[in-house]
Amino acid sequence: MPRVNRILQHRNYEEFTEKNKQAEQKRIYCRHGSDHGLAVARIAYLYLLEKYIEDRDSLPGTGTNKASVRLEESYGLGKESIYAAGILHDIGRWVEYENQEDHALAGARLARPILKDCGFTEAEMEKIVLGISEHRLPPDQTSSILGQALALADDWARDCQSCSSKATCYKYTKAMEDILI
Ligand SMILES: [Fe+2]
Ligand SMILES: [Fe+2]
Repeated sequence: MPRVNRILQHRNYEEFTEKNKQAEQKRIYCRHGSDHGLAVARIAYLYLLEKYIEDRDSLPGTGTNKASVRLEESYGLGKESIYAAGILHDIGRWVEYENQEDHALAGARLARPILKDCGFTEAEMEKIVLGISEHRLPPDQTSSILGQALALADDWARDCQSCSSKATCYKYTKAMEDILI
C-alpha cells in the first residue's frame, strides 16, 4: 500500500504522533500512538470485508470473486482509504488536550493536507475525512459506513480485559471485554 506507507513517513504524521505521545505520557487510560491507529485500521478493514460478505447479495458487483475489489466497488472504499482513515483518525488528539476542540474534527482538518501530499484523490479524501470526523459518534448514528467502521474498530482495538485502569475509565463496560472481530 504505497500511499499508506507515505502517510506513515509524512512529516506531519510523525509530528502529530509525537505530540500525542508527549501529551499522553502520564495518561493511565488508552493512549493514541501509531500502534492504536494501525490496530483501528486493520480492524476497520476486517469489519468492512465481513460486512461486504454479509451484504453482497444486495450490492452491485462486477462478477469478480475478489472480496477486496468488490468491497471497493460496492462501498467506494479501497483498502488504502480504509487504512488511511484508521491510521489518521486520532491524529488531532493533541489539539483536544491543548484547546478542548473535538479531536475528531481537528483530526479531519489535519488529515486532509497529509492525504493530498500522499496522492489520495479529492473523492477519496472526502470519504476519509468524513469518516475521521464521525469516529466518535455512536456507530449506528454515523452518516458514512467508514465512520461506522472506525467507531466500532476504535472500541474493538482496546484491550479492556487486561487493563488496570478500567474501574475508572469512562469508556469501559463489561461488553468491551467481548472479542467481536
Ligand atoms: Fe478518537
Ligand atoms: Fe481511537
